[in-house]
Amino acid sequence: MLDKLKIAVLVSGGGTNLQAIMDAMDSGSITNAEIKVVISNNKNAYALERAAGKGIEHLCISPKDYPDRTAFNEAFLEKLNSYQVDLVVLAGFLVVIPPEMIAQYKNRIINIHPSLIPSFCGTGYYGLKVHEGVLSRGVKVTGATVHFVDEGTDTGPIILQKAVAVEQDDTPEVLQRRVMEQAEWKILPEAINLIANGKVTVVGGKVRIQ
Ligand code: GAR
Repeated sequence: MLDKLKIAVLVSGGGTNLQAIMDAMDSGSITNAEIKVVISNNKNAYALERAAGKGIEHLCISPKDYPDRTAFNEAFLEKLNSYQVDLVVLAGFLVVIPPEMIAQYKNRIINIHPSLIPSFCGTGYYGLKVHEGVLSRGVKVTGATVHFVDEGTDTGPIILQKAVAVEQDDTPEVLQRRVMEQAEWKILPEAINLIANGKVTVVGGKVRIQ
């Protein structure tokens, strides 16, 4: 029997992916895992209220409260480490993860990205900008990806992906919502459940699922 996976969820905004994780825990589609803490870089993130509503510990560490990025990164990592989690989930967390944190949490940080990596990812592609890029290129299929975080931007080993159709008259907002509903809110909880139950390994830089 594996120990219960202890998770930190890092957020910056609305927190619909956090909600999907909490709902999956309630319904039993994620087993053997618990959220220890939700951390936001933005004190106004609605995600913090969602955590509060569930009685989950939550806090904000804002770069605005530190003299520079180095001081913020140090404080953030120290706070995160104090919870001794097994897995860090970036659920719409729009802060660049510093190399020290990636080294300390190798293959223990996962991210949800709203496109089929390696398309429409990397520096500058986040949130609505991803869907704007998809629409301006005119691709017919997009989707979402859950991946481990490595030193690059959206370059780590891919865990799960799900495709979503682009419709002719989509706006970025409409497409964003469809990608969330049909892909993100499904594959992020699914990836956490697989990890919590010991089904995910990284071999030669690629993910194997048992
Ligand atoms: C989600 O669409 C997530 O995939 C995206 O931000 C949104 C957060 O929504 N993340 C990125 O773009 C990361 N590069 P949420 O706060 O409602 O979960």
